[in-house]
Amino acid sequence: MSGFEGLSGKTVLLTGAAGGIGSAIAHGFAHAGARLGLVDFDAGRGNALRDALRKAGATAHFAQADVSTFAACERAHAELTSELGGIDILVNNVGISPKTNGKALRVWEMPPAEWDGVVAVNLNSAFYMARLCAPHMVQQRGGRIVNMSSVAGKAYCDIVAAHYAATKSALLGLTRHWAAELGEFDVTVNGLAPGRISTPLLKSVPTEINDAVARVTALRRLGTPEEVADACLFFASDQARFVTGQVLDVAGGWLMT
Ligand SMILES: NC(=O)c1ccc[n+]([C@@H]2O[C@H](COP(=O)([O-])OP(=O)(O)OC[C@H]3O[C@@H](n4cnc5c(N)ncnc54)[C@H](O)[C@@H]3O)[C@@H](O)[C@H]2O)c1
Repeated sequence: MSGFEGLSGKTVLLTGAAGGIGSAIAHGFAHAGARLGLVDFDAGRGNALRDALRKAGATAHFAQADVSTFAACERAHAELTSELGGIDILVNNVGISPKTNGKALRVWEMPPAEWDGVVAVNLNSAFYMARLCAPHMVQQRGGRIVNMSSVAGKAYCDIVAAHYAATKSALLGLTRHWAAELGEFDVTVNGLAPGRISTPLLKSVPTEINDAVARVTALRRLGTPEEVADACLFFASDQARFVTGQVLDVAGGWLMT
């Protein structure tokens, strides 16, 4: 058991499930007895994660989808709810942070198509999935939404480009707004702001940059996906039942605001 209560038997829809943080969140929920609906556009890693979760005794289904369009989110949601029933916990985890030769492009260099792609994946998908999952939560008068922001959405960080920072900041606004809209239905909405976490996402920049971040992080190291997963499970659990509209840094004391 995870130590977090109220997760056993709950249904979870998790985007970007096959990535570093997503996989840790999936395993964390599975360990706590929740039933998983996994969404990712990487079918190979998504199916492998589903199989690993099932092998560990969990209920898990995978829907392959590019979450940047509403139609694809709608298909994935329909596929997963037909297997699992309505969604109790939505984790908007998917996120991309494109770089060119390891560098964040500046405003005068940024191709509009790259900007649009980041907005679609990091921000629009969160709205699409919340739009699809919230009616069930409102109807059953209960639910949880966790949005994956970043410390780069709260403070200036030269490693990422403006599209990433802008979408992660926008998720903070969504978190507060949805918390206010959904509170009367006992649905909580919170956000996570990870610092530098060891996942495949970090490989887009040279190792020296990640080493430099570790040096200026209070705890002098990068985080692990499991450390982000623990905070996500907390927000989804009964222990956090009176916590809503909040964003928790899981950053080891990097970019403290
Ligand atoms: N790793 C970090 O240091 C860090 C720090 C702060 C915030 N975050 C955030 O945490 C979240 C997870 O990051 P991660 O490090 O696990 O990244 P990751 O690259 O390991 O995983 C991202 C996953 O999203 C999937 N994906 C990408 N585009 C998609 C699309 N259009 N449709 C469906 N799936 C898609 C990928 O296939 C991948 O499995 C992201 O929102 C990221 O911004 C990460």
